[in-house]
Amino acid sequence: MNLTLKIWRQKDANSEGKMVDYPISGIEGDMSFLEMLDVLNEQLINKGEEPVVFDHDCREGICGSCSLQINGEPHGPDRLVTTCQLHMRMFNDGDTIFIEPFRAKAFPVIKDLMVDRSAFDRIQQAGGYVSVNTSGNTIDANAIPIEKENADDAFAAATCIGCGACVAACKNASAMLFTSAKVSQYALLPQGQVEATDRVLAMVKQMDDEGFGNCTNTGACEIECPKGISLENIARMNREYLSASLKG
Ligand code: SF4
Ligand code: FES
Repeated sequence: MNLTLKIWRQKDANSEGKMVDYPISGIEGDMSFLEMLDVLNEQLINKGEEPVVFDHDCREGICGSCSLQINGEPHGPDRLVTTCQLHMRMFNDGDTIFIEPFRAKAFPVIKDLMVDRSAFDRIQQAGGYVSVNTSGNTIDANAIPIEKENADDAFAAATCIGCGACVAACKNASAMLFTSAKVSQYALLPQGQVEATDRVLAMVKQMDDEGFGNCTNTGACEIECPKGISLENIARMNREYLSASLKG
């Protein structure tokens, strides 16, 4: 395939960015999107030009590092896949592909296509954990009976990889889908009950303090989420928040 890439280049957080055109040829359908960018970067390095900076780590849909807005969609045109799992067979010979960083005030650009998503870490640190006795006399987790439906829903919520596509997809740059997945994975389990009240209040406060927008139930986050995190988690978090506010 021969393609034209239009890529956001930005020197650093304080510089203005712009779209730059890069023609590329010899791209195979079996290549991943990131492998296609590797080919481009090799060519740029060979020409003495600066390679395009983009985030990646596992390249198998687990770590949540890869984060590209491709033709206006977080993680591109395929469904339930991350950018690293997106194959070039989703595109046609002669296509022009727009590649931008995830856009949100709370995700400032570091360089080119790499953004700072540490706001997610701070939301997680505000309450996304359970305090457990690590004395060596802990009860085996499997000894606590958990209703199958709750166990399944908690597991589904825990598959959120913190990629930020939900924020990038949202017209309000809301982080409700991410935060609600992190709240839900504990709210559904007995181990999460002890700190449940403080957890939801602290995580929602941190989310607001980071500058994410409000949820207006548009649902774009659920559609673009590579892990299929359900909007039901947002409804659950709202219930948890209301109940915690009444107790507090
Ligand atoms: S909810 Fe989905 S889109 Fe949002 S951070 Fe988690 S995995 Fe990514
Ligand atoms: S590089 Fe880890 S999910 Fe894409």
